[in-house]
Amino acid sequence: MQDLQDIIVSDVQKGVLTITLNRPEAYNALRTNLLQEMADTLDAAVLNDDVKAVLVTGGEKVFAAGADIKEMASLDAVGVMNDPRPTYWRRINAFPKPMVAAVNGFALGGGCELMMHCDIVIAGDNAQFGQPEINLGIIPGAGGTQRLVRAVGKSMAMQLVLSGEFISAEQGRDFGLVSEVVIPERTLERARQLAEKIATKPPIAVRLAKEAILKSYETTLDSGLNLERKAFTMLAATEDRNEGIAAFMEKRKPNFTGK
Ligand code: HXC
Repeated sequence: MQDLQDIIVSDVQKGVLTITLNRPEAYNALRTNLLQEMADTLDAAVLNDDVKAVLVTGGEKVFAAGADIKEMASLDAVGVMNDPRPTYWRRINAFPKPMVAAVNGFALGGGCELMMHCDIVIAGDNAQFGQPEINLGIIPGAGGTQRLVRAVGKSMAMQLVLSGEFISAEQGRDFGLVSEVVIPERTLERARQLAEKIATKPPIAVRLAKEAILKSYETTLDSGLNLERKAFTMLAATEDRNEGIAAFMEKRKPNFTGK
């Protein structure tokens, strides 16, 4: 992999690859290079069988304050049209393994949208979420108008996007943006604990479960149930399913191999 400037990528530990956004001087603003590094890292992680889950964090103080406004300022309409960032977002969105976010401090604009690309969000009680793009004369551009509605419902999505107001970690949890709120010193540890636990589960079942849940965003109940049934059937052909059931019967821990 190329030298990374904007993110830190850990070695895989206990099946978990940790990506730390690393532009503290700009509150981890998501400039093009950062998104490209994330997309490249995730593409490589798809092919690496050692990676069972990914942990995304911005560190102790801030998750990400959005797109890099200074970089954005130089783009006219043609520049925005030819902007490579949407392709990086699509690659991040297509990552098939579970992603857990550990969020302290601000998750704003593209930062909130990056958080919503993650499958589970653990937030510190100092976290603040918002889509303040309206203050810049723009709207969310990485799925905020779509994912936010699905996450928090229409009224709160409208409130965030139209007013630019921030909400707290607790409000984020109450509205379903976040699954747990902890003290900021515990955010990374709790998110890592979850990612490591998921990494011990049978990977094909994890992958199909993620796919089925995400499908619920964009399909009818009937075709979602159909997809679930097909995935359920497919899992009956895996060694891990036989191992899981055998381990239960034999009262021992399963040894999943990803086959
Ligand atoms: C570039 C940013 C930045 C951003 C903060 N900084 N946010 N630089 N892009 N989004 C930089 C500041 O310029 C400053 O550096 C340093 O980080 C610290 O910021 P301060 O403003 O001094 O800190 P504070 O007073 O604590 O306020 C924090 C803040 C504020 C509330 C997060 O910085 C803020 O409102 N940032 C912008 C948030 C935003 O509008 N996000 C949406 C972006 S648009 P210097 O060197 O200047 O001191 C977007 C569209 C997504 O995300 C589209 C998807 C592709």
